[in-house]
Amino acid sequence: MNNILPIDMNHLPVMLEETLENLNINQSKNFFDGTLGFGGHSEAVTKMNNECFVIGVDRDLEAINFCKKNFNHLNISLHHDSYENIDLILNREKMKDVNAILLDLGLSSYQLDNPIRGFSYRDKNTLDMRFDNSSHSITAAEIISNYNIDELTTIFKEFGEERHSYLIAKKIKDRLDENEINSEMIVEVINSVTPFKYRKKTYSRIFQALRIETNHELEHLKNFLSKFINYLSPGGRVIIISYHSIEDRLVKRSFKELHQDGKLKIITKKPLIPSENEISYNSRSRSAKMRIGEKIG
Ligand SMILES: C[S@@+](CC[C@H](N)C(=O)[O-])C[C@H]1O[C@@H](n2cnc3c(N)ncnc32)[C@H](O)[C@@H]1O
Repeated sequence: MNNILPIDMNHLPVMLEETLENLNINQSKNFFDGTLGFGGHSEAVTKMNNECFVIGVDRDLEAINFCKKNFNHLNISLHHDSYENIDLILNREKMKDVNAILLDLGLSSYQLDNPIRGFSYRDKNTLDMRFDNSSHSITAAEIISNYNIDELTTIFKEFGEERHSYLIAKKIKDRLDENEINSEMIVEVINSVTPFKYRKKTYSRIFQALRIETNHELEHLKNFLSKFINYLSPGGRVIIISYHSIEDRLVKRSFKELHQDGKLKIITKKPLIPSENEISYNSRSRSAKMRIGEKIG
């Protein structure tokens, strides 16, 4: 498998072997990578099948620009867009359907590690958290400033599954007058209500909840799930890697409904998860769940 790993080893595509084994790449002419990121999965796919044409989509302009610069030797067409617009994107490509679809949800290591993007609790960042920071959409800092305590509580509860949602939301709002909204302030609030041993998990949960709300991530996924089957060719495979229980539930339910309608064969009765070995060298893979379906027809 080593010869198909991406050049930049700092970026490790999650569950790459499982993806390549299950996408039926050799029979794929057209591959829709809806979350291109830094192109790790797509690069490996084109190394396995150099006749494969990749439609690479990402909401993040920096990711698209990186791929433009580094993958101009590949058979790839780039779209700065959301995967939820699969219908419009294929229309632009003058294509009816594709043979394989991949969504690798969440955010890339690059986004997490870049302090300017404000995704991480580790640095003193202004809380931007937009995947598409070239747009005028609302940032996480604006959400904190504009939403009331109840609205923030709901986000922390639903998307972060956080027990102290109300207290954290209230304390954040209480501190708004004296403080700039940045990651340090959120971390201080969490420290004031959470015992030391639970803090790291709480940071992750609250930051994840803010990111999901900022980017309307569940709406994009729901829209995609409601239509992707129309754009997959018969026998074509769809793979979705998710990192959050709500996302995994949405995928599971959608695949089940499509199966009941006789449109999708479910390849994974239970989701695949990364091997212990992968988790040992890429800890960010640890919450990944992969579901695979095949279009019947
Ligand atoms: C986990 S990374 C993908 C990494 C990629 N598979 C690789 O190997 O380089 C997720 C990417 O999805 C993008 N993304 C998130 N939501 C999106 C959406 N609705 N449409 C398109 N891209 C999205 C993020 O900007 C990020 O670059």
